[in-house]
Amino acid sequence: MPKIEVKNISKVFGPSPKKVLSQLEKNFDKQDVLVETSHAIGVYKASFEVEEGEVFVIIGLSGSGKSTLIRCLNLLNKPTSGSILVDGEDIVKYDRKELREFRRHKAAMVFQNFALFSHKNVLDNVAFGLKIRGISRDEARAKAKNMLSMVGLEGYEESPVNALSGGMKQRVGLARALANDPEILLMDEAFSALDPIVRRDMQFELIKLQKKLKKTIVFITHDINEAFKLGDRVAIMKDARIVQIGTPEEILANPCDDYVEKFTVDIDKTKVLPVRSIMSVPGCLTKIKDGPKVALQEMKANSVSSAYVVDEKLHLLGIVTLSAAMKAIEEKRSLADIMHTDVIEVDQETMISDLVPLATQSAYPIAVKDEQGRLTGIVTRVAILSHL
Ligand SMILES: Nc1ncnc2c1ncn2[C@@H]1O[C@H](COP(=O)(O)OP(=O)(O)OP(=O)(O)O)[C@@H](O)[C@H]1O
Ligand SMILES: [Mg+2]
Repeated sequence: MPKIEVKNISKVFGPSPKKVLSQLEKNFDKQDVLVETSHAIGVYKASFEVEEGEVFVIIGLSGSGKSTLIRCLNLLNKPTSGSILVDGEDIVKYDRKELREFRRHKAAMVFQNFALFSHKNVLDNVAFGLKIRGISRDEARAKAKNMLSMVGLEGYEESPVNALSGGMKQRVGLARALANDPEILLMDEAFSALDPIVRRDMQFELIKLQKKLKKTIVFITHDINEAFKLGDRVAIMKDARIVQIGTPEEILANPCDDYVEKFTVDIDKTKVLPVRSIMSVPGCLTKIKDGPKVALQEMKANSVSSAYVVDEKLHLLGIVTLSAAMKAIEEKRSLADIMHTDVIEVDQETMISDLVPLATQSAYPIAVKDEQGRLTGIVTRVAILSHL
């Protein structure tokens, strides 16, 4: 079961949202609707699922409905129609008490503008949410301290939040959200107010934390590089609608329209595409037990001058050249004696950008293995360079 299941959510702002929603034509224009009815369409018929432990990113231009949508996920916005199942329960139907429990225990939000108490110090800001849950002062402070060290802020417990930089404030915001140990983190442009270097630090911090904590995260941004860096899957919004959902790789390979394509032109593809997307089939494979004669035949049959030597499970052992194989036959030596074993091998999910330093070190194409460790492809230096 997905952690979050959003089914056909719409949110209309104005005095008669349900009525206006029911009268919308399929291809309505948001601006026209606003002019004619004085209602703003925040989100229109959005559906998606978020798996437990997944980072789901929503991206879109300003006004496309990202904040409206994420605020539906903890009912800061009540959807005009549709349902939102969290662990199978429709939170739209929650009464006040259930909703309070949900916000305290299940889903925490991190805001762009930090939303901290400026008159409280760092520790008290983080401990605040714990205290309103009825946790004792000492326990709350101990927990808060722990969270602060997790986000790299030990030593700042007593500092007034006003004395902190933007990046540090957002770490406090993150620590506060994590202090309740929520299962779901909702982050609305949490890093957008930070300058680029601090922002990169925070992205790295989040990736690090997520490896450890495995929360279910919905993350809003308008920066495609941030979206593709953080997101397991990304949803792209336009004019209140979700126009495409997919992994960064899927979206890059198949943008559904010009709008999405325009987003992706700024992307550094080598940081998103894994090596398996550019590898080629090895020209010639030979099994070590078959010996140099067979290796030579194989190379001739494939018109190549080298072969990859593998074991019975297709694990790579080395590479043998045509001339070495001929010499081995003459001198009655084995493939193991003459093959070169200094072939660099990488996992098929390695990002292309990570191959660049390796490519210059290696005399041979880089070998690529699948999850079972089997040789599945090779990447030449030319293939890597042509993708930079
Ligand atoms: N409380 C509200 N009352 C009326 N209209 C609203 C309200 N909140 C949002 N809207 C409208 O809903 C639409 C989507 O706004 P939203 O804030 O979700 O966009 P966004 O994608 O988050 O934009 P940004 O990138 O600027 O934060 C806009 O047309 C906005 O004017
Ligand atoms: Mg917004």
